[in-house]
Amino acid sequence: MRPPDRASERLTSTAAAIVVAAGSGERLGAGRPKAFVVVGGRPMVAWSLDAIAAAGIPRTVVAVPPGHGAAAEEALAAHADHFPLGLALVEGGATRSESVRNGLAAAPDAEAVLVHDAARPFAPSELFSATLAALHDADAAIAAARATDTIKEAGADGIVVRTLDRDRLWAIQTPQAFRATVLHRALEAGADVLAQATDDAWLVERAGGIVRVVESSPANFKVTTPHDLQVAESLLC
Ligand code: CTP
Ligand code: MG
Repeated sequence: MRPPDRASERLTSTAAAIVVAAGSGERLGAGRPKAFVVVGGRPMVAWSLDAIAAAGIPRTVVAVPPGHGAAAEEALAAHADHFPLGLALVEGGATRSESVRNGLAAAPDAEAVLVHDAARPFAPSELFSATLAALHDADAAIAAARATDTIKEAGADGIVVRTLDRDRLWAIQTPQAFRATVLHRALEAGADVLAQATDDAWLVERAGGIVRVVESSPANFKVTTPHDLQVAESLLC
C-alpha cells in the first residue's frame, strides 16, 4: 500500500464515507438487521466506524434500515465525536444501490466517497486510506483479494466450459472509493440496472470508467451466513 502523500491527504480531508447498513440480513437469519447484530461485544457496524475514523475520514453517513432509525441512532451515538464533520444517519433503500444513493445525497459536497459494507467488520483503516489514494489515476479504486481457488466456468448442464486465468482474477470487497461526480453519474442508471448491481464499481465499469483494484486480504470477508458470524465472533472476542 502507498504511504499517504500530500494529494491523498487533501483527498482524505474532503472525503465522506458511506456505510451501507440497511440490509435485512436474511441469509444470516439473526432476527434483526445484520449490521446491528452484536459481534465481539458491539453492533457489527461499530467496527467499520472505528476503522474509518482511524483513517482520518472526517465525515460518515450510515444508511440504516427503514423503521430502525431510533435504535440505530442510540447504537451509534458514541461514534459521533470521532467524525469532526459529522456522523449522519439516513434511511436505506430497497436495494443496496438505493442505500448508497441515499447516503450520497447526505454528503453533497464531498469530492471523494468511500462506500463500505457494514457487513465487513475486518476492513483495516489502511485499506480505506489506500483505496482513496489509488483514486489519483482512476475513477474508482476497489478493495480486492487475489483469487486463491482455481475458477472454472460451467454451463447450466454442469459441464465445464473453460478454466479462467487465476492470475487475473480478483474477489471484490469494500471499501470502494469513487470520485464523487463519477458515483453520482453511475447511480443515475435505471432501477432495473441498480437492482442488478452487487457492487457500485460495476456501475462505473459499464459507463466506461477506469476502475482500479487495490490488493486486500481474504480476512476482510463479508459476514453473510451463520458460519461467517461464528468465525467473526471467534476473531473478535
Ligand atoms: N445493504 C443496504 N441496503 C440494502 C441491502 C443491503 O444497505 N437494501 C447493505 C447491507 O446492510 C450490507 C451490504 O449492503 O452491509 C452488503 O449486503 P448483504 O451482505 O447482501 O447484506 P443483507 O442484504 O443485509 O443480507 P441478505 O442479502 O442475506 O439479506
Ligand atoms: Mg443482500
